Amino acid sequence: MMKNEKSLKDRLESLLTSLPPWRSHLILFLHRVQQEFGYLPEEALARAAEYFAVSPAEVYGVATFYSAFKMKPGCRHELVVCHGTACHVRGAEAISAELSRLLGVEPGREEPGKNVTISQVNCLGCCALAPVVVVDGEYHGRVTRNNLEKIVERLSGKK
Ligand code: FES
Repeated sequence: MMKNEKSLKDRLESLLTSLPPWRSHLILFLHRVQQEFGYLPEEALARAAEYFAVSPAEVYGVATFYSAFKMKPGCRHELVVCHGTACHVRGAEAISAELSRLLGVEPGREEPGKNVTISQVNCLGCCALAPVVVVDGEYHGRVTRNNLEKIVERLSGKK
């Protein structure tokens, strides 16, 4: 067995066993995998199906439903701006516009030479934190213009 395979398996097991094997924890597990790896490896989906006793199709369905989850690794940074009702009334439009201005990227477009994409979704399920922006799987709540500048600064410092 390759060292990296063992490492991946061990890391997945560590994330899994920190949670009780209840199907209600599936999304939390996927969020933790996304944070740990930057995407959802196939091994994570297969192991989640076993551990939470749900079908692989259901795990895949959940994983592909939420745009905050990436199914493939990549060097691009993904920003997701929530435009659901709670986030909308708390300035999601202005946040999207400011992010576009700071990064030079239009939402929903891949710009040549840019390593970042911005997408918009209709509720991330954490409305109490509105407005919400997800950066490479990491949730940022109650975002302000100052937060945005810090987020963009951190992003440009990432490898
Ligand atoms: S409306 Fe943005 S998290 Fe629900």
